[in-house]
Amino acid sequence: MATLHTMGQQQDRRSWAEPFKIKVVEPLRTTTHGEREKAIREAGYNTFLLHSSDVYIDLLTDSGTSAMSDRQWAGMMMGDEAYAGSSNFYRLEATIRKFYGYKYIVPTHQGRGAENLLSQSAIKPGDHVPGNMYFTTTRFHQEHAGATFHDVIIDEAHDTTSLHPFKGDIDLGKLQALIDRVGAKKIPYVCMAATVNMAGGQPISMGNARAVRALCDKHGIKIYLDATRAVENALFIQEREEGYASRTLAEILLEFCSYSDGATMSGKKDHLVNIGGWLATNDKDLFEEARNLVVVYEGLHTYGGMAGRDMEAMAIGIEESVNVDYIKSRVGQIRYLGELLDQWKIPFVKPVGGHAIFLDARRFYPHVPQDAFPAQTLAAELYLDSGIRSMERGIVSAGRDPATGDHRRPKLELTRLTIPRRVYTQAHMDVVAESVKACYDHRDGVKGLDMVYEPKYLRFFQARFERR
Ligand code: F0G
Repeated sequence: MATLHTMGQQQDRRSWAEPFKIKVVEPLRTTTHGEREKAIREAGYNTFLLHSSDVYIDLLTDSGTSAMSDRQWAGMMMGDEAYAGSSNFYRLEATIRKFYGYKYIVPTHQGRGAENLLSQSAIKPGDHVPGNMYFTTTRFHQEHAGATFHDVIIDEAHDTTSLHPFKGDIDLGKLQALIDRVGAKKIPYVCMAATVNMAGGQPISMGNARAVRALCDKHGIKIYLDATRAVENALFIQEREEGYASRTLAEILLEFCSYSDGATMSGKKDHLVNIGGWLATNDKDLFEEARNLVVVYEGLHTYGGMAGRDMEAMAIGIEESVNVDYIKSRVGQIRYLGELLDQWKIPFVKPVGGHAIFLDARRFYPHVPQDAFPAQTLAAELYLDSGIRSMERGIVSAGRDPATGDHRRPKLELTRLTIPRRVYTQAHMDVVAESVKACYDHRDGVKGLDMVYEPKYLRFFQARFERR
């Protein structure tokens, strides 16, 4: 076992451990198979509809599920809950400027609040927004504002077996072809995500970000970064890209952001907090527009839907997030789980990404057609086996094409085991791996699901299913 803890550094064969000790504990509840059978049926075979009290190990998401540090909890006591001009906002603003380098900051309640402000401020009906694969809420806001989204990620991102080190990279040829086809004036910005969630938490390289900047500069197109997991992206650059091994994560993050004109942020991930987000920009006009809109949708421009204490915890979380020991253990824990699954030849997206293991449901259940929702099925089966909660990232998440009304049929049909930050131990990963193996051993008898209720927007959150 010791070698599995070494994160690939086989030469010294020394284990590593979580770089923290536990000060407060939250007991976990185990359930019987009968209880789980009832709970998942009542939840319409949708893990989003389970009660968390019925869940044993919760790998639904890494969003808002982090454990805060003692320093962050201490910071919560320093909340300045003034409606206007909270001192925590100015501290947060200064911290974002220092670590991300943008000039103007608008706080929001979470990432999609920032996406809404950016989309409404920058997009006109009939516009086109290219991006390195879609994210559900991000694309929703772009389409809601009247734009058409175009996936310009490299082809390797759609291949779960490709070992490309930067599967999040933008294909410059695809981007140029879109510019040639619709014209630069119809492209308000390129939406560049780091790391790419729907591709499996795959990073984008510094070289690619630089090249996209050069291409966009030639055509006068702006770039907005989805910085939700940009710190995790920085680790991959440090590990894999020439010239960055001796640069700090903070230096890499700052350079990476310098190739964009602004960013949307879900602080619920990299920032190690349970709620919060922001929009940042270097564009004074866009800032004025977004700062005006924020009071309509989120709250005053010095809190944007967050309490003062939340902003303080976020500022401290940003400082903690660029600590290399922390981020190595974060990504290392996911790699550890990947190594366990690999022993049993269980199919998942390779290389292992920054925040989750994405099981490849197409190869897991080759006999289940995509219309029977294999990834949704796997999430339900995993819950039934052990009470572990995961999430579908396939045809259900992809939704319907607004033009044709048909299902979008993504190549990637994945079940995501998302690891919260600083919450679970390596022993939990052992339990997770064994449960996935149990499902794999029993895969032949599984038939899939039928969708019996489908909401209009972001259907994966609330859709209901029945067993075939
Ligand atoms: N961008 C990315 C890349 C995300 O992963 C998310 C959220 C958002 C934007 C939206 O942020 O939730 O704060 O409004 N992802 C969560 C997940 C929900 O589980 O992957 P939000």
